[in-house]
Amino acid sequence: MREWTREERYRVLESPEDIRALYERIRQSDYRQLYHVQPVTGLSSDPNGFALHRGVWHLCYQWCPWGAVHGLKYWYHVTSPDLVHWSNAGIGLAPDRDYDNRGAHSGSAISRGDELVYFYTGNHRDEDWTRTPYTCAAVMGDDGRPKKLDAPLFGPRDDHSEHQRDPKVVWNPDKQAYYIFIGAQTLDKRGCVMVYRSRALLEGWEFAGELKVPGYEAFGGMWECPYITRIGGKDVLIFSPQYTKLPGRGESTNHNVYFIGRMDYDTLTFTPDGPFRHLDYGFDFYAAQGAFIPDGDPDVGILMAWIGLPDNHYPTEEEDWEGSLSLPRELRVANGRLIQTPIPAVKALRGAELPAEGALPAACALEVGCPGDDFELSLFTRADGSGGLRLRYDAARRVCTVDKRGMDKRFNAQVGEVLDMPLDAPLTKLEIYADRSSVEIFANDGEATFTTHLYPTGREFNYTASEGLDVHIWPMARSVTDEFVV
Ligand code: FRU
Repeated sequence: MREWTREERYRVLESPEDIRALYERIRQSDYRQLYHVQPVTGLSSDPNGFALHRGVWHLCYQWCPWGAVHGLKYWYHVTSPDLVHWSNAGIGLAPDRDYDNRGAHSGSAISRGDELVYFYTGNHRDEDWTRTPYTCAAVMGDDGRPKKLDAPLFGPRDDHSEHQRDPKVVWNPDKQAYYIFIGAQTLDKRGCVMVYRSRALLEGWEFAGELKVPGYEAFGGMWECPYITRIGGKDVLIFSPQYTKLPGRGESTNHNVYFIGRMDYDTLTFTPDGPFRHLDYGFDFYAAQGAFIPDGDPDVGILMAWIGLPDNHYPTEEEDWEGSLSLPRELRVANGRLIQTPIPAVKALRGAELPAEGALPAACALEVGCPGDDFELSLFTRADGSGGLRLRYDAARRVCTVDKRGMDKRFNAQVGEVLDMPLDAPLTKLEIYADRSSVEIFANDGEATFTTHLYPTGREFNYTASEGLDVHIWPMARSVTDEFVV
C-alpha cells in the first residue's frame, strides 16, 4: 500500500493536465466499470447532490483526483437522462474558498425553478489542522456552473464535536419549511443528527435541535450522511453509523442502516416502528443518498450509494484508483421494511440471453429461480469450478451466506470475508448485476440486497449452481462514458 504525505493527499488540482497521464493509465484497467459511475481518476466515495433537475439527473461523487486515497475532496459531476446512461461533466464543486480550503465534503441538492442548489460541508482546517465544518451552498443556473455563496450558511455548534457534516436538505410541505439534517457527534462521542430549519432556502437557517430516536441514544460514534424521507406514507431514516461493530457484521465499524417509523417535526422525534435494519448486507455499501425528485411519486424513492467503506482498501489501489457508485435503486416500503430494486431501465442494458453452460462475461446480469431448498451458487469460479464468490442458502434459517474467500484477489480480510443476508421469506429469486469490479445481489424482488466489490482475474469466469436452480444470464452493455472531462 502506498504511503501518502499530507501534501500529496491535499494537493490542489491546478489544471486538468495534472491528471491526464493518470487518467490515460487507469482507463486501461480491466476493472473499469461498464455501467456504474466510477472516478474519472483517483478515488470516488459518497454520492452527493443527487437530484432530477429540469429533466436531467444530476449526481456528484466525493472525489480525490490523485489516487486511491482520502485527501482533498472535490465534487465530481455526472449527468444522465435516465439514471442508466451517465456522462462525465467535470468538477462540480472545487475546494477553492477559505471556508472549504481542505475539502468540499458531502452534501445534497434541491431543484428550485431554474436553479439547482447544492448544500455541502466546507471542510476548513487551520494551519495547525484544527477543523471547522461549515454548511455551505452553491447555486447552479442556466450556465451549468455552480456559484458558491460568499459566506457559509452556518458554522458548527460548540455543543457538539467537530464532526458536523453532510447536509441533506428537504422541503416539508406540512411545515412549509426547509430542513437540513446534519450528521454529527455529541461531545461525549455518540452519533446523532442535528436538525436545522428555515423558511427560505438560502438564508434564515436556525438550529432546531438534535433529533431524538428513542432507544438509539448510544448507537455508534458518528452518524454520517443522515436523511429522513417519506415513502408510501411512512417516514424512513437512513444514515451511516460508524465507530461501532454490529452483530453479524464481522469486524467492520462502518455501516449503512435505516429505520421505518414516524417523524414528528414538532418534537424532532423519529419513533422507529422496529429495530434498525441494514440497508444492504454486503461488504461494501455506504453513505447512501436519496435523490431529490420534484413532484416525485410519493410511494417510490430513488437511492444510490458508495460501493466501498471508509477504512477499507481495494486491489485497484495499486492502479491509483478505487471506488464506484451503486446502481440507482427504487425504494418502496412494504411489510415494515424497505424494498429495493434496481431501476427498471437497467434491464435495457441486457443483451441477448446467453447459454446457461457458458462463461460469465465480466459485466452481466443473472436471474436465478430458487426452489426454496438449500443451494449453492458460485460466481466467477475458475474453469474447474473451484473458488469464486460463493452464495450458500440455508432454507431452515432463511439465510443466504456470501463468501468471497475463494477469489484470487482477496481484500479487507481483516474486517471479514463472509457475511450473512438474512431473509423474512424463503428465498425464491435472485437478481444479480455484476460489472467489472462489483456485484449487486437483490433477493426476493428487493427484500434484501448484498453489494460487494469483486475483482475476478483472467481465470475466474465460470460459475457453478446446485441442481434445481434456474439460471439465466445476459451480458450487460456499457452505459457510462469514461471520458476525460475535468
Ligand atoms: C462519508 C464521509 C462524509 C464526509 C465525506 C468526506 O464517507 O466521511 O461524512 O462528508 O465522507 O469525503
